[in-house]
Amino acid sequence: MSETDFCPSALGTKEHWDAVYSRELKSFQEYGDEGEIWFGEGSMSRVVRWINAQKIPRSSSILDIGTGNGMLLVELAKAGYSNLMGVDYCADAIALARSICEQEEVSQSVNLQVTDFLGSFSPSEQFDICLDKGTFDAVSLDPSNTQGKRSQYLNVLCTVLKPKGLFIITSCNWTKEELIKQFGKEFEIKDELPTPSFSFGGQSGHSVTALVFQRRDNS
Ligand SMILES: C[S@@+](CC[C@H](N)C(=O)[O-])C[C@H]1O[C@@H](n2cnc3c(N)ncnc32)[C@H](O)[C@@H]1O
Repeated sequence: MSETDFCPSALGTKEHWDAVYSRELKSFQEYGDEGEIWFGEGSMSRVVRWINAQKIPRSSSILDIGTGNGMLLVELAKAGYSNLMGVDYCADAIALARSICEQEEVSQSVNLQVTDFLGSFSPSEQFDICLDKGTFDAVSLDPSNTQGKRSQYLNVLCTVLKPKGLFIITSCNWTKEELIKQFGKEFEIKDELPTPSFSFGGQSGHSVTALVFQRRDNS
């Protein structure tokens, strides 16, 4: 899908995510089911592996934007990262993430907060790394003012991420070229993580794109 025919949808609304995480929280409480891992287990291990391979200090501050059930943070905590934060505007997502962190005994390393990333988020310090797995996709689908929401996302990201900080995004709605177009003014691309490819009708492509950007130091 190209930027010009991008279709807003209910998936971009808080009501949608509230309903999803209300169900997932209940399911965790009743059956211990941790819920959906967006883009599959591989999408988490790719990010954790890449961060590990860079020998990034375990004390680096890492923010997961729109953390959902917080499983990416759980995996990072298990890999030894101890300064982790997750925000989500759904209270039930954060309640679910908290319960999972307790169950996995990583609560000490993970700070979780109910926050609208585009509205009320003002952390006391900038982060070394920001992660996004599916959240920019959701923001892009917001039926009200999608272009404005995307600009707001970029503004907040640049406020909360240190200059030269890393932004690792996994998306199923945007291609590599489109993401570079969205973020390229403030960020340079540093790496592309391998994602499963498909081929159809003689064409091949990727259903998921995972990129590492580094914030330019414009100071
Ligand atoms: C596709 S889900 C991905 C969840 C999680 N990152 C994962 O990989 O499992 C998108 C997430 O973004 C959250 N979200 C969307 N817009 C947000 C906003 N403005 N502020 C905070 N969270 C938001 C939703 O509540 C949802 O948890």
